[in-house]
Amino acid sequence: MNSDVLIIGGGVIGLSIARELHKKGVGGITIVDRGPVGREASWAAAGMLAPNIETDSTPDFHRFGTESLELYPSFAAQLMDETGIDIELDQSGTLCLAFDENEAAQLSEIFAQQKLRNVPVDQLSSAEILDLEAAVSPAVRSGLLYPFDWQVENRKLLAALRKFAEIYDIRIIERVDVSGLLIDGACVAGARASGIEFQAGVTILATGAWTSLIKIGDAEMPVSVKPIRGQMMSFQTGTRQIRRVIYSPRGYIVPRADGRVLVGATVEDVGFDKSTTAEGIDSLKAAATEIVPRLIDFEIVERWAGLRPFAGDGLPVIGELPGYENVYLATAHYRNGILLAPRTAQLIAERIVDGASSELMELYGMGRFSSSVNASAIYS
Ligand code: GLY
Repeated sequence: MNSDVLIIGGGVIGLSIARELHKKGVGGITIVDRGPVGREASWAAAGMLAPNIETDSTPDFHRFGTESLELYPSFAAQLMDETGIDIELDQSGTLCLAFDENEAAQLSEIFAQQKLRNVPVDQLSSAEILDLEAAVSPAVRSGLLYPFDWQVENRKLLAALRKFAEIYDIRIIERVDVSGLLIDGACVAGARASGIEFQAGVTILATGAWTSLIKIGDAEMPVSVKPIRGQMMSFQTGTRQIRRVIYSPRGYIVPRADGRVLVGATVEDVGFDKSTTAEGIDSLKAAATEIVPRLIDFEIVERWAGLRPFAGDGLPVIGELPGYENVYLATAHYRNGILLAPRTAQLIAERIVDGASSELMELYGMGRFSSSVNASAIYS
């Protein structure tokens, strides 16, 4: 089977890259996925777009998160035009709450540090929080409001990206497990799966937690990406009771337009095991009902788990595979695949189509693992 571009992995990253390449005039795109497309980590996610809470570990990563967030309003509007699917971008903002004196002191410290860096954040008293969100527990001590941390309905985003692929003749091949890349000298010429070879001019690995299982010819992938399980659950509350995404130090709740409240997430190093456990679900229920006590009255309608792709430093891996031509990696987005998808897709498409170099790709490329300078030293 021949393609101009072969994308291995049809999660939010692979599907977004396919769309971006198509919009830049690339034809002959094939996506191959080990399962149905869009049913792994991107499906399991809660759709938080939270650069100021989840990517504020270093200034560069924060910039990456913020640049991707800023693409979301046009990403959502364009997908609506292209596919008729509303991905429910919700710009109500996000709260982080403290429930004791220590947590309140930690939030005050974060607030002071973030203000110095002009991060958009406000500090709220318990009365101000209850004014905004009447369902929150009166035990709340204080909180931070992030007006530019949003959410999207990630399953609708996946449906829209899939529909885009179908409308614009991007070929999707499902339930085919790619085991290795085809090597021709220093060039990657596609990929192999059991009984099938996919020849391609350019190959992109958007393979998430499965990246390190793919061989380069007979050699091992020179980056370790491992699965980190996140268990999730959701309540059905009928009508929407909560406006904003809300975090506490023990978990987060994400209210959806249809009355569901998603609750996440555990962080567990248990290999490729996607089961949920009684202990995990109990911890989520406790975290959720601490934030909004009345959730205890509602039915739990779904329990699930996904595998976040984690490279050693928790940062994405985006760019060329050193030593080989015609191959790119876009993986290891760990806790932020939904947030980082539109900007990652731009970076990869601009590199392939325009030959563009970018500082973000330098920072998040494979080079950081072979250099004696580690990632945290680069950013400090
Ligand atoms: N970004 C949320 C999570 O990974 O649980």
